[in-house]
Amino acid sequence: MRRISVCLIAAMSGVLFGGTALAQGPTSAKDNERANALLKQMTTEEKVGQLNQPFFFPVPVPGMKTDTVSYEDRVRRGEVGSFLFLTDPKKINELQKIALTETRLHIPILFGFDVIHGFDTEWPVPIATAASWDPAQAEAGQAMAAEEAGHAGLRWSFAPMLDIARDPRWGRISEGAGEDPYLGAAMARAQVFGFQGRPGSPRPFMATIKHFAGYGAAEGGRDYDAAYISEEELQNVYLPPFRAGVEAGAGTVMSAYMDLNDVPAAGNIHLLHDLLREQMGFKGFVVSDAFAVGSLVTQGFAKDRLDAAGRGAAAGVNMDMGSGTYLENLKKLVDAGKVSQAQLDELVRPILAAKYHLGLFEHPYADATDGTHVEMLAKHRAAERTAAARTAVLLRNEGGVLPLSKSVKKVAVIGPLGNSGADMNGPWSLTAKGEDSVSVYAGIKAKLQSADVEFAEGVQIAKAFPSSFDGLFGAKLETPWSGDEAASEMKKALDLASSSDVVVMTLGELAGMDFEYSSRSSLMLPGKQQELLEKIQAMGKPVVLLLFSTRPLDLQWASEHIPAIMDCYFGGTEAGNAVADLLVGDAVPGGKLPVSWPRAAGQIPVYYAHTESHKPYDSKEFTSRYWDVETSPLYPFGYGLSYSTFTISDLKLSAKSSPVNGAIKATAMITNTGAVAADEVVQLYIHQKYGSASRPVRELKGFERVTLKPGEKREVTFTIGHDERNYWSAAKNGWVVEPSEFDVWVGDSSAATLHDSFIVAE
Ligand code: BGC
Repeated sequence: MRRISVCLIAAMSGVLFGGTALAQGPTSAKDNERANALLKQMTTEEKVGQLNQPFFFPVPVPGMKTDTVSYEDRVRRGEVGSFLFLTDPKKINELQKIALTETRLHIPILFGFDVIHGFDTEWPVPIATAASWDPAQAEAGQAMAAEEAGHAGLRWSFAPMLDIARDPRWGRISEGAGEDPYLGAAMARAQVFGFQGRPGSPRPFMATIKHFAGYGAAEGGRDYDAAYISEEELQNVYLPPFRAGVEAGAGTVMSAYMDLNDVPAAGNIHLLHDLLREQMGFKGFVVSDAFAVGSLVTQGFAKDRLDAAGRGAAAGVNMDMGSGTYLENLKKLVDAGKVSQAQLDELVRPILAAKYHLGLFEHPYADATDGTHVEMLAKHRAAERTAAARTAVLLRNEGGVLPLSKSVKKVAVIGPLGNSGADMNGPWSLTAKGEDSVSVYAGIKAKLQSADVEFAEGVQIAKAFPSSFDGLFGAKLETPWSGDEAASEMKKALDLASSSDVVVMTLGELAGMDFEYSSRSSLMLPGKQQELLEKIQAMGKPVVLLLFSTRPLDLQWASEHIPAIMDCYFGGTEAGNAVADLLVGDAVPGGKLPVSWPRAAGQIPVYYAHTESHKPYDSKEFTSRYWDVETSPLYPFGYGLSYSTFTISDLKLSAKSSPVNGAIKATAMITNTGAVAADEVVQLYIHQKYGSASRPVRELKGFERVTLKPGEKREVTFTIGHDERNYWSAAKNGWVVEPSEFDVWVGDSSAATLHDSFIVAE
């Protein structure tokens, strides 16, 4: 019965998701025909080999079992459909040559890697790009990443990560687009187009939308822990970015690690079959997360590795990343009649089709020797500088401390993030070199050449429980200072501050603190950074706080005492130059928060699109608000200041009522009322006032980043139609568009006040 209802939903989905036919993935009918022809010639062993993706580590990794068979021999034996983690073009070509010349059917290897926000150079981290509220910027960034990685012979990225994150204790908040499904879907689409090209102009590169699904809802923000998500929340909150990614033609999906409602994602038939294949119409291939098929045993789901292989295959995991479980067991299952040849072919076909689509049979080798590389990287760096400046979110600017005067005489750059290029690259910058990246100190020195710019670290920061991943990004792993050294470094910083005209504090978290396996219980500035900040503020100098981290940190004190605060995330290779541009007004901040900024960790989860209780927060009595802290976030979702000022006015609806399948247009006027050219992000929120289920108090349903000169105005138009009002109703167990009354707000954040309303009639 359940299957039938899911099929019905799939059949209706062309209508439900805005009338567009769901994408078939990037492969064509011809790719599939070629795959079928090849399949006919393949033995069971050869088929199983295509489903296997071993890690390639150039040096043994501590704690990881080293295989006694060489990589070369594994290729010769036909045991490698894909490698991950090999990035050296020479070695890629060597192994590819073995596959093409020394295996029976000459099937090329697909080389994949975590090209998350760059490869040779780094674009800002994904959450920063989300803060730009500019999908075109996300698309451009991933196009550059694909170009760099493709140059080295990689054809496949394990990105974009589309996990909605409403708990900043989860370190992987850095890799996604934040809390909102609509913004997340826009960034998903853009990133898939960036990696793969647009339909009609594809590039030979494939994206992976991950981690399917619900990984960001890990209990307590503890990476890998279970997620419990109702079908309603899954459909309305966690799946929209994936739906957008599938519609954009993403070639692959990575299944998540964790248990979703007690069923591990890599063996979860409801997720991988019912939702992904049947409902969303995904036609590409699913790769497990690393070792996840084998982990079905550890997670208490599969009896043993044989059972795990069967369960992964039954759920529809095509490729086994890292665990070797398929390689070891799938043939046994086929021989025992537990997996049919037809099932095996279903698993292999999309992998072969992808190899045809990518042109690997015709162009299997890396071209990393051609002379355009240096030129390409210079172009990318220039774009990265602009991109990084567009991601920064100005949270506070009392008394116009920013921008700084270019004739300032002495600038102190203080804090543990001030002199590190590697940290600016952010997490998952595995191949870009830290020393190629511009630190904030270097960026400011280069910008203010006639000023005396000096740096002091002041305090060190470190994890209480370090992780084996910490050294991955080339960031410094410092020897901890002794007590005396710590006192002397603190004093140096205070002395420097007292002799300077302005103090630029560079505080936050190291890149490795905002990563996989990097959860935190607190949102306080780690280490003694708060103490350092308070001591410097007490000196009465103008202080600018630049925050480097991807999770929002506790700024309750700073938001009252530090006049200028800018969230800079990790801006990538050109971060330091971008920050310097912003500090002096050569660039104007225009980024907006992709998350609601908690006042304190105890508020988590705090997100704007919650439903209303029977006693709303502004009720006088019996409300769900806390008695020790405001219920509202410190800074709302969508918030961010500028060096200019804007008014958003004249909200007009094209009609005051609409039939259920109709659409209303909302227009508003935006005017730059300040003195400098700048960007504003105009945002549209709606609220369905009643229906078969309670709807969030506000939901983002449109946005546009506009650039205006001083005095310039522009009309911005949004459509509120079927897609914007469509939601999964728990009461109806399906998608609905209902008659109701709708509020509309347009403004510069989720706290917008410009309001109108309309009716949707039967
Ligand atoms: C992560 C994935 C990543 C994979 C390969 C896993 O631990 O969860 O996001 O793509 O490793 O590096």
